[in-house]
Amino acid sequence: MSTALPNLHFHDLGPPVEDFRAAVIEGLAVKPRRLSPKFFYDANGSALFDQITALPEYYPTRTEIALLRGHGRAIADWLGHDGLLIELGSGSETKIGVLLDALQPSAYMPVDISGHHLLESSRRIAARHPGLAVHAVCADYTRHFPVPEAVAKLGRAAFYPGSSIGNFEPDAARTLLGRVAAILGPGARMLIGVDLQKDVVRLAAAYNDVQGITARFNLNLLHRIRRELGAEVEIDAFRHHAAYDPALGRIEMHLIATRPTRIRLDGLDFRFEPGDGIHTENSYKYSVADFQALASDAGWDCTHVWQDDEALFSLHGLTVGPAR
Ligand code: AVI
Repeated sequence: MSTALPNLHFHDLGPPVEDFRAAVIEGLAVKPRRLSPKFFYDANGSALFDQITALPEYYPTRTEIALLRGHGRAIADWLGHDGLLIELGSGSETKIGVLLDALQPSAYMPVDISGHHLLESSRRIAARHPGLAVHAVCADYTRHFPVPEAVAKLGRAAFYPGSSIGNFEPDAARTLLGRVAAILGPGARMLIGVDLQKDVVRLAAAYNDVQGITARFNLNLLHRIRRELGAEVEIDAFRHHAAYDPALGRIEMHLIATRPTRIRLDGLDFRFEPGDGIHTENSYKYSVADFQALASDAGWDCTHVWQDDEALFSLHGLTVGPAR
């Protein structure tokens, strides 16, 4: 892909479509059926997610941005970083823009699975910060994200916004946080956004917006299966469902069949009766103490927390503890 800016380098390590095909076949063959939320983010899904972040019901994004703006100086002083800033699941560039205004890293490495989206936002950042080396890495960061040679020797810090950590089962979240700690090295710091437990009505509304954008985001997964894998899917035979499970502390999203239907892929038939579903996402909500316990299990020292007055969202300052 042409980047056309001297300070922008694009490293395409995006997973091949065959990985998506294999995951869909595996996820539809088991009961209960499930697909990983990482498959939401093709170009359409990323654009729909950007629309979600601006919805009145979806408080996390605007609350996190207000925290970054309101505590920008303190956060930048704490992160105090002039080396390589790695951003996981970078998405759009508003949040990192606030940090880059306060910090002066010499290189920035956004990592995201959605290549088109990543390139577009990286272009805007590189154009706005001509002195910053931008190394965009298109990769599934749950598997691997090699640091490009050109910036591998710089000291590392990370930014992991948006409460994307909440989309992992706690065990997987612990594993991921441990891997990030190993990649950054002892003493390195990470700023991570974590959505907090709260009133059930508010949580449910954030995933059931009246404009139906979250429904389109969820259903886009079926469009993607049809478009990219050539599957036969009656998309209008499914509806979006999202609800908070207080016992598990998570929002669950599902696609539910409203009539008998089937998904036909590579000669395989996956049949659905009305009410049968595909579990497409969990979004865990943490208390500050529970998240800190999880992060410290993964080898991090939890030294700072910034949260809004309503305790909707938290930003945690974590430091990689000594090697264990
Ligand atoms: C990216 N992730 C943290 C979002 C969330 O809130 O779990 C994805 C999302 N799903 C529905 N709305 C937003």
